[in-house]
Amino acid sequence: MSEVVIVALGGSLMYDGGDIDQQWVEDASKIIAQTASAGTKIGIVIGGGHLARENIATARKSGVTDTFDLDLVGIAATRYNATAFAAALKSTGVDVSENVPETTTDATESLQNHSVIVMGGTIPGHTTDAVSINLAVDSGAKRCTIATNVDFVYDKAPQINPDAIPFEEMTLAELQSIVGPPEHRGAGPNVVIDPIGVQIAIDNSIELALLNGRELERLAKCLAGETFRGTIIGVN
Ligand code: UTP
Repeated sequence: MSEVVIVALGGSLMYDGGDIDQQWVEDASKIIAQTASAGTKIGIVIGGGHLARENIATARKSGVTDTFDLDLVGIAATRYNATAFAAALKSTGVDVSENVPETTTDATESLQNHSVIVMGGTIPGHTTDAVSINLAVDSGAKRCTIATNVDFVYDKAPQINPDAIPFEEMTLAELQSIVGPPEHRGAGPNVVIDPIGVQIAIDNSIELALLNGRELERLAKCLAGETFRGTIIGVN
């Protein structure tokens, strides 16, 4: 298979308040189309964003307490977002798989026949960060790029710690010392990169790149193999 790149697009990027941010979807689609036109295969994993948060909160209010069941609600949101993003990509003329694969094995198979696949979550117990790193492993990609809503990995949460220190480069072991052991912390938003995904990256020597996906020129540079503003998390 040609070179494969895997990108996790955090669901929060796709929403402006409660609505899908059409401009962002259009701009992100163009970057994916450009990368695909250079002959690179692209696996995209979309998060749940606003839709997952709202639906998980509603399920909690109506008495659902089981994490497995709340995770299923989150997965449904990620697959909805993936379907919407795949449709937008298709309208730019990109050869994208029409169905949203439900496992990373199916996604890898589908990448044999299409330039791009778009998927959401797989099973309860982790987030789409872990799915994207699993997809990197299955499809033979060396790096997994995580586009989220912060500029860098920081030593502590930058939203509540103005003195948080950003990292431009770090190792997977250093990242693990920040995000903690590989445990599922329950449905809904958590740490900068899912610790379960970090463990999968360590076990399979997958390099990670983290960047702010609201600044799409950074994603374009990263996918083109150029220097970008963000954090590179090396195998060692
Ligand atoms: P996300 O991947 O969007 O996780 O999945 P997140 O970290 O909460 O949100 P972002 O990164 O800000 O977008 C949403 C929820 O769906 C469930 C989890 O409950 C997760 O928190 N989920 C998702 C799974 O259980 N399995 C999956 O494979 C994906």
